[in-house]
Amino acid sequence: MVTISLIKADIGGLVGHSVVPEELIEGAKEKLEKAREENIIIDFYVFNAGDDLELLMSHDKGVNSEEIHKLAWNTFKELTEEVSKKLKLYGAGQDLLKDAFSGNIRGMGPGIAEMEFEERKSEPLLVFAADKTEPGAWNPYLYKIFADPFNTAGLVISPKLGKGFTYEVMDLKRGKTVKLNAPEEIYELLALIGTPAWFVIKDVYSRYNGEIAASASTSRLSLIAGKYVGKDDPALLIRAQHEFPAVGEVLEAFSFPYYVAGWMRGSHTGPLMPVSLKHSQCTRFDGPPRVVGLGFQISNGKLIGPKDMFDDPAFDYTRQKAMEMAEVMRRHGPFMPHRLGLDEMEYTSLPEVMKKLEGRWR
Ligand code: F6R
Ligand code: MG
Ligand code: MG
Repeated sequence: MVTISLIKADIGGLVGHSVVPEELIEGAKEKLEKAREENIIIDFYVFNAGDDLELLMSHDKGVNSEEIHKLAWNTFKELTEEVSKKLKLYGAGQDLLKDAFSGNIRGMGPGIAEMEFEERKSEPLLVFAADKTEPGAWNPYLYKIFADPFNTAGLVISPKLGKGFTYEVMDLKRGKTVKLNAPEEIYELLALIGTPAWFVIKDVYSRYNGEIAASASTSRLSLIAGKYVGKDDPALLIRAQHEFPAVGEVLEAFSFPYYVAGWMRGSHTGPLMPVSLKHSQCTRFDGPPRVVGLGFQISNGKLIGPKDMFDDPAFDYTRQKAMEMAEVMRRHGPFMPHRLGLDEMEYTSLPEVMKKLEGRWR
């Protein structure tokens, strides 16, 4: 069995919240290289989604391995001290909400997407990471990929995919999950995941053989800390081909830039724009929200690749569309639906405004 762990955190940005500086990427590589030499991990790839440092690791320790979680936690902690604070990067260590590691990185601030499986004869893996948005941002994409025949031709053409997929959906407010089968229960599924701030797709399983097909990060920092503490920029792992959707069917879902929550101050809606690693940076109005997509072939636990999947003219039209959609939203300025509803506002200014106006209401 091989385990893929993608663990990410914002531990400091170069120029505000735009990107992870090269110094942090290099520092993380050095630490993970050492862990590889010590046989803690089999392989790794370090990259960034905007201002989030992404540690992709393969190993044989299973999901929720204390050793792997600790490696990621220590990497973030040490780099915060050795690099972020020294360079006075913006928001140094911002996602590290706890002082001491307590056995599992979940609930401590960093986001994590993890899956364990028997490596197939050939194992294509797609890795997605987004900045300036939230875990529920994957909901429409995962719906399209595993339940919508207008996106995924295999659902109609391949009997293996035709068996359908099981979605495990998390209720973020109650911390509980429910399993729903597609296609029979797509209406119930959509009734939940249409509220991405509340219900988030956590895992997807093949109903042909029960194998894990996709796994997403589900943490919401504000629900951990009870207040705004930065965005929960999400990560996602998807296995492709054969009994799963083809690589191109997975990527097809990203041809439409769905409006997602999390732009500027975590308080605005914007289109999720697919970009290459080179453009994995946040600029206009601290965004717009962006997603990078990397492809790997796994070979005896080794990560062969990556292929930078959105570094392609085939996604130029989507990017153009995203910027038109961004423009429409930006013209709304402080008005909804650009600004999120009050219950979703990360920096809620209303109580202060109300306090200021106290005694003036007639
Ligand atoms: C960070 C983010 C940014 C910040 C904004 C203000 O994930 O979404 O848009 O919220 O740059 O940041 P502060 O309050 O740190 O000045
Ligand atoms: Mg940041
Ligand atoms: Mg971020």
